[in-house]
Amino acid sequence: MRKNLVAGNWKMNMTLQDGLALVSEITNMVQDEVTGSDVQVVICPPFPFLSAIGKQLPEGGRFHLGAQNCHQKESGAYTGEVSARMLQSVGAEYVILGHSERRQYFREDNELLSQKLKAALAAGLKPIFCVGESLETREADDTFNFISQQLKEGLFHLSNEEFDQVVVAYEPIWAIGTGKTATSAQAQEVHAFIREQIARAYDAEAAENTTILYGGSANAQNARELFSQPDVDGGLIGGAALKSRDFTEIIKSF
Ligand code: 13P
Repeated sequence: MRKNLVAGNWKMNMTLQDGLALVSEITNMVQDEVTGSDVQVVICPPFPFLSAIGKQLPEGGRFHLGAQNCHQKESGAYTGEVSARMLQSVGAEYVILGHSERRQYFREDNELLSQKLKAALAAGLKPIFCVGESLETREADDTFNFISQQLKEGLFHLSNEEFDQVVVAYEPIWAIGTGKTATSAQAQEVHAFIREQIARAYDAEAAENTTILYGGSANAQNARELFSQPDVDGGLIGGAALKSRDFTEIIKSF
């Protein structure tokens, strides 16, 4: 079922001590200030902090733990890598896959990502699958083509049952960490397009039930306007997820 969801992607930031302090502030603020909303919150810290941060999240409520990546293989001689099953075993429920930083700096393509999705789902994790165009692609008026290809090659090989577990995040690359947010109309336009593609690949019910997040310089000031769009179900937040007050305000923006 489609839900309101805010995920904080810490990227490669924080020490464990900073992270624990941040999460304690966030959970206290959210418990005091967020009432009468069923917004779900996913905290995605770096691998080494997952277990400790997970233990600090209040159990059985709106808070969930997520990872930022996983390896495509189940186990084996892949020094330095982390499997989906390992993530699941330390309490992660979600995993971000296909973030543009992984695509760009680690050469992850749709083919590899489709394997990672399978691995995550097999371990019982819910993937947060990211798509989004570069400035060049947007200026060439090729955004819809590009995103449709990312969805087809990366995601739409999944069965209906597998696809049910997936959250999609639209993150225009030109908006990530740049302070240049997509307008709510730009976000809505692409979110509606993604939903339409899901309806074509699966069916109208799957499209209606898919949670689609916006990411890219979302903050406490613009979240309400973005989240008010009919096809924007929440946000994948970078920089503003590292500040307890800002992140809490975003969580309150429904
Ligand atoms: P910023 O919110 O810092 O732009 O990052 C967005 C993002 O990449 C979240 O995954």
